[in-house]
Amino acid sequence: MSGTDQARRAFFDRLAPTWDSAGPPPAATLARLDALRPLIPLRSGDAVLEVGCGTGAVTGWLGDQVRPGLVTAVDFAPAMIAAARARGVPADFACCDVLADELGAERYDAVFCMHVVPHLRDLPAALARFARALRPGGRLIVLHLDHWERINRFHDSLGPPVAGDHLPPPDAWPGLLRAAELMLARLEDREDLFLLTARR
Ligand SMILES: C[S@@+](CC[C@H](N)C(=O)[O-])C[C@H]1O[C@@H](n2cnc3c(N)ncnc32)[C@H](O)[C@@H]1O
Repeated sequence: MSGTDQARRAFFDRLAPTWDSAGPPPAATLARLDALRPLIPLRSGDAVLEVGCGTGAVTGWLGDQVRPGLVTAVDFAPAMIAAARARGVPADFACCDVLADELGAERYDAVFCMHVVPHLRDLPAALARFARALRPGGRLIVLHLDHWERINRFHDSLGPPVAGDHLPPPDAWPGLLRAAELMLARLEDREDLFLLTARR
């Protein structure tokens, strides 16, 4: 792991204790997910990999959508995973760097990335790893509850190590997905939302 990425992991570790109180109220986030549910391709019985689960704020919601399927929720910041585990929701939690650790092959029906893609140090490599971890026909879901430009400006305003952590603009995604052998299924680019779904 590069020095920048170690700094990024330490950054998220430091934020873990205050993460849930720093952003929008958790109930409001879950209400937005409920409203977006028809656009989010999760099915009962799915095995889901939640990438960068943070404190597990939406892990329980994911589990409810796929029950009796299971959620594997991973994050590379140990303090985030400790906070997520402490919630006691039924999921497999693991401290894992999705760019370095084994994710498995054809193991998941869905890979769910909420508010994490800008922070992945090598997005093309991450997408290729997610494609490999998906079963044929499996779905990648990239979700941000804000406009992509506002997200990028916000990260830049924070300074190192997350300044420059950008969500690629909508027109960059078809090429990024093609290179990972994923097919774009839907892209919602709205004032308060970025939602992308793709298929393996
Ligand atoms: C902005 S937070 C989002 C947390 C959660 N998904 C949410 O919406 O509240 C991004 C998370 O991604 C994690 N992360 C960044 N790079 C990662 C990597 N390479 N592997 C695993 N987790 C990573 C960070 O530790 C952090 O907890």
